[in-house]
Amino acid sequence: MNLKEVVGLKAAEYVKDGMIVGLGTGSTAYYLVKELGRRVKEEGLQITGVVTSSKTEAQARELGIPLKKIDEVEAVDLTIDGADEVSADFQGIKGGGAALLFEKIVATYSKDCIWIVDESKMVDQLGKFPLPVEVIPYGSHNLFRLFEAKGYQPTWRKTDNDEILTTDGGHYIIDLHLEAIENPKALATELDHLVGVVEHGLFIDMISKVIVGTEAGANVIPVTHA
Ligand code: 5RP
Repeated sequence: MNLKEVVGLKAAEYVKDGMIVGLGTGSTAYYLVKELGRRVKEEGLQITGVVTSSKTEAQARELGIPLKKIDEVEAVDLTIDGADEVSADFQGIKGGGAALLFEKIVATYSKDCIWIVDESKMVDQLGKFPLPVEVIPYGSHNLFRLFEAKGYQPTWRKTDNDEILTTDGGHYIIDLHLEAIENPKALATELDHLVGVVEHGLFIDMISKVIVGTEAGANVIPVTHA
């Protein structure tokens, strides 16, 4: 069973006529977008998509999903996106696909957010997955050295050609190999205050549901953040 497809299909059930829908990025969100494209074409589903990356934009355009830019809408009704890790208290790490900045912007202007993950992404504590930090290129090598000095074990996000990757927003990504994040909110605040950091992959108190793919099917978990 393809668990990414299972949760993508389940999440698509929450999308109704007339909605403005935030379309996530990654190999799981791919199946959501594919299913929404099918419903637009075959069932006449009326939605407007707001994409979170150039990659998702290309897929959605190909499928004929009508799109608007985030600045053309005042709010997004529902955003559905993947995640790299989801902790027991439903905080997350995102950005494995290098789209964290646009993903966080779209999520911020969304009335509701759902994450779709296979069960391997559910963890007790965040941090095994490297935490992406999106940075302005100017001064970024000094930021890298600062992270080294803090013991955060940084690495540059690279392309297949071993060059530093440039995001859709024109920035670099430094991945922090932290292994365990004791206090995600405190780390988020610390990163928020570093000059040159545009955004980081800690997504705190953002979702109302996580849909977890298991061999038994899609498990919809409602989330209430304290
Ligand atoms: C992209 C993301 C993705 O949602 C995250 O990396 C999960 O991707 P996948 O579904 O391919 O495992 O945050 O920036």
